Amino acid sequence: MQQIKLQSTRLAGALVLALTGLAQAGEVEVLHYWTSGGEAKAAASLKATLQAKGDSWKDFAVAGGGGDSAMTVLKSRVVSGNAPAAAQIKGPSIQEWAREGVLANIDDVAKAEKWDEALPKVVSDIMKYKGSYVAAPVNVHRVNWLWINPEAFKKAGAKVPASWDEFFVAAEALKKAGLTPVAHGGQNWQDFTTFESVALGVGGVDFYKKALVQLDPATLASPTMEKVLATFKKVKDYTDKNAPGRDWNLATAMVIKGEAGMQLMGDWAKGEFVAAGKQPGKDFVCVAAPGTAAAYTFNIDSFAMFKLKGDDKVKAQKNLAAAIMSPEFQETFSLNKGSIPVRLNMKMDKFDDCAKASGKDFVASAKSGGLVPSIAHGMAVPSATEGAIKDVVSQFWNSDKMSAKDAMTRIAQAAKTR
Ligand code: GAL
Repeated sequence: MQQIKLQSTRLAGALVLALTGLAQAGEVEVLHYWTSGGEAKAAASLKATLQAKGDSWKDFAVAGGGGDSAMTVLKSRVVSGNAPAAAQIKGPSIQEWAREGVLANIDDVAKAEKWDEALPKVVSDIMKYKGSYVAAPVNVHRVNWLWINPEAFKKAGAKVPASWDEFFVAAEALKKAGLTPVAHGGQNWQDFTTFESVALGVGGVDFYKKALVQLDPATLASPTMEKVLATFKKVKDYTDKNAPGRDWNLATAMVIKGEAGMQLMGDWAKGEFVAAGKQPGKDFVCVAAPGTAAAYTFNIDSFAMFKLKGDDKVKAQKNLAAAIMSPEFQETFSLNKGSIPVRLNMKMDKFDDCAKASGKDFVASAKSGGLVPSIAHGMAVPSATEGAIKDVVSQFWNSDKMSAKDAMTRIAQAAKTR
């Protein structure tokens, strides 16, 4: 009798423990737009990291490079009081969402895991609202890259360009060889990705900061701005007729297959090359966009955390935040994504030469003043301003009638949008 009583007490205890365990595991709904080959692999590594902690992942993927569609869907979900646990929100938009009062304070996780010491200040500042962490940083992408198919260049007798003049010489040679010189997708964030690399290469770092970060009216109306716009428009002559609307990863695929010679794109493109089994230095080449070798346009992916109800959900959300910043995850994720870890002092021995160059240039440009935020990827200006300027730049790209001067006037006007 005594024995049975003891056993049932033990059983009850085990049951309580099991139930407590169950109550602690929670579901995390994560909004992201990582649906291409390399991106999906990277997202899967985040899911696996979370599941290893015993929580479950509810995928909320909204396709569309650059995330415009994802942001539209997010707005309607939050407005209807049904926010996901975490959403891929970046740059000044984090502040915009925090001001709405919908983001959760994750200082306890950040303190326990020493985020302040693990992150460059330029990054932790973006993740905080009024001094408290509301988002967790995932990685650092460099935007000002040029991706090259060396076989295509060989066929065309073209030389890897270091300046915009050389870029057009190479483009001409590729065209003569019957190839598409520049793989492009005509979507406004892709147009602007090209535009900001041209602005940085033609105008230099000071021009870039004054014109596109500080939105200085005089710089936006300067002869340099006119030259930038004219150079940008000339790139279009070397894209193919099917470019309008094309997704960025399909443009990368053209370079992978050797149908096109080059693509101006951030290093998420490398995730596509790697997912296709291609090796840097052999099957593809990464170089800084023409004229931008000493500069670095940064794009930091991050997840903003939304206020949630329910202890299990909150606990799981915090698990996700901690997982994102763990050194193991930071490494695996960036190896798939084409980026570099955002954590300081990470070993780079598993990374390829493009990532190593990115890491070195990030540090060097931070010292020299050449580290600048990407406008195309939501790092520099309020989202409404960014959207208005992007629209004009794409209208200029697509129009046969708008002159560079007209575009300048309209960009200066758009820059006042808040
Ligand atoms: C960027 C984002 C990257 C990348 C790309 C294409 O804005 O930061 O993570 O995936 O868009 O979707």
